[in-house]
Amino acid sequence: MKYPPIISKFPHFLHGGDYNPDQWLKHPKAIDEDFRLMDLSGCNTFSLGIFAWTSYEPEEGKFNFDWLDMIMDRLAKKGYNAILATPSGARPAWMAMKYPEVLRVSRSGLRETYNNRHNHCWTSPVYREKVNIINTKLAERYKYHPALGAWHVSNEYNGECLCDLCLKSWYEWLRKKYKTIDNLNECWWTYFWSHNYTAWEQIDPRDGCVDGLRLDWARFITWQCCDFMKHEIVPLKKLTPAAKVTANMMGFFNGLDYWRVAEVCDFIADDSYPSWYKPDDNSDTGSFQGMAHDMHRSMKGGKPFVLMESCPSATNWQPYHRLKRPGVHKREMLQAIAHGADATMYFQYRKGMGSCEKFHGAVIDHVGHEKTRVFKEVSEIGKIHRKLDAVIGTSTKSEVAIVNDWESNWALDYSAGPTNASKKYIENCHSMYRTFWKSGVSVDVIESTCSFDKYRLLVLPMLFMLKKGFAERIDKFVSDGGTVIATYLTGIVDDHDRCFTGGWPGCGLRKVFGLWNEEIDGITPDDKQQVVAVKGNELNLKGKFEVYDYCERIHLEGAKVLAVYGNDFYSGEPAITVNRHGKGKVYYMAARTEDDFLMKLSSAVMEDLKIRKILQKTLPDGVTAQMRTDGKREFVFVLNFKSKKQTVDLGKEKFKDMLTGETVKHSLKLEADGSAVLERIF
Ligand code: GLA
Ligand code: ZN
Repeated sequence: MKYPPIISKFPHFLHGGDYNPDQWLKHPKAIDEDFRLMDLSGCNTFSLGIFAWTSYEPEEGKFNFDWLDMIMDRLAKKGYNAILATPSGARPAWMAMKYPEVLRVSRSGLRETYNNRHNHCWTSPVYREKVNIINTKLAERYKYHPALGAWHVSNEYNGECLCDLCLKSWYEWLRKKYKTIDNLNECWWTYFWSHNYTAWEQIDPRDGCVDGLRLDWARFITWQCCDFMKHEIVPLKKLTPAAKVTANMMGFFNGLDYWRVAEVCDFIADDSYPSWYKPDDNSDTGSFQGMAHDMHRSMKGGKPFVLMESCPSATNWQPYHRLKRPGVHKREMLQAIAHGADATMYFQYRKGMGSCEKFHGAVIDHVGHEKTRVFKEVSEIGKIHRKLDAVIGTSTKSEVAIVNDWESNWALDYSAGPTNASKKYIENCHSMYRTFWKSGVSVDVIESTCSFDKYRLLVLPMLFMLKKGFAERIDKFVSDGGTVIATYLTGIVDDHDRCFTGGWPGCGLRKVFGLWNEEIDGITPDDKQQVVAVKGNELNLKGKFEVYDYCERIHLEGAKVLAVYGNDFYSGEPAITVNRHGKGKVYYMAARTEDDFLMKLSSAVMEDLKIRKILQKTLPDGVTAQMRTDGKREFVFVLNFKSKKQTVDLGKEKFKDMLTGETVKHSLKLEADGSAVLERIF
């Protein structure tokens, strides 16, 4: 099966990016050049007007869309697309001066001055009204325009506001959720430090000692953002019902639960700026990127997403302005496609002359022509895209899913303890993810409320919080034959961040996991601990492995031991276990081990389950294989993250190289930082 193209009338890869001609209106020659260079670079899609409010409405109520008419018409003439933005990410100074309520109030209680961007109050009726007016005008004006491809709502929503209006909305939100203050006190365990509230207005979101409060404030911010976004979308949906809407995300940005934002989007868009800093081996950054992309695809059940922003050379806000080495840009773009992107776009198309982004990489550099290394690399992507039309709309088929849950991460973050120096939730999800990435196995990255039906293996790294119904669903998944790998710190608190009583893992998981987690040893870097595989264990694991940060003392309640602790007062006690439950199994890792052990464990479990690898033979270190398929054709992306040539054993299979047209068999040679797209020949 295939998904329809992101822009339905355009069944090709979207290529282009943020384009800000409103900054160049006094330089019409540059704009002419922009259009000439579009054809040469193979760019066909442009995010327009993201920060253009002042040029649309230089004075309150006085509108001017001439420049946008001109750009839209010229794009349409070429058959190219606009992803038209709503400009709410930054507002005109006149608005801030006349209506200070559009500005945020910070945690200090003071109202911000006019500055920067991404800092409007989400509640302000004035701001909402102004946004509604401008969004309506844009939708009215361009609803029948052939260049209108999709809507890009605002830009990278983030932050918080503590103005009186927002606080009022917070109290309202709490009242709706908890009904009575008494119920809230119980759910938040406010009896602590004399915090039991007697009125909603007493609940100050800055109070850091009530964990449930902090968790709910993060949820409230997400709700507020989604509510604001829905408000922005009303006129767009009304006037252009066929046009799809998105908001650009920022990977694993901690400030918003992106699964909720995803629900408001028609398709997912992500901004991604990996720093390929290592001279020899960037596989760590590579696998982390893979995990982010897999999540963005999984957010809409496998539907292709848009890489909305990336940098064709180097950003100006990361610590080093390290240029992309030859091959790196191509690999970065192919990697996004490999995991489900049907668009690879940039920030930005033409580099601005001044202000704080003047040194940020762009397709067209200050020199202004096409004879730059970056422009040539971008043009190569344009050519590659044309050879990959068959990939559009295809997805992946994953038997494995990793659960990465925003709320669970927040709950862990906001808890003082169990050990504070090294919680590293996302890093830990990544360590588990990497074992599959290295093996060339497709993985979905889901949240804990997603359906598990499609999967045979579920990985639960540090799922600290169990949302309502989760434990029952895991019980069913395993009883019906599914396999789970869970780690330390699973099943500790409920969705109010209150610890489960009656033994961990809570909520009935003790029975499913076949163990009781009595206590957690948060070890220091000076402590020496190991896990030692026990003789004759059913996964045939062998050897001793270093352990860091977390060691739980667990008691078997039906589970069998695979490895025990090697040191200290709990030496010989179980550390890694497996429990048969119904027709399935649960593996439990009570300790944070070195990566080598994770690789061994996950390889043994994959072997046991006969999880399908994209390529049959073991991949060289630093190389991954990822696959997109429509159920019939299989497109295999092979990516080398080492800066040296590598050879990939293809066994007995044959492939067609989609970029050169050649048949490939026996082995595939990859350049340093090289990449290839192969179609499997059956
Ligand atoms: C973000 C923003 C863009 C731009 C880039 C620079 O992703 O959305 O407007 O500032 O960063 O990297
Ligand atoms: Zn506010």
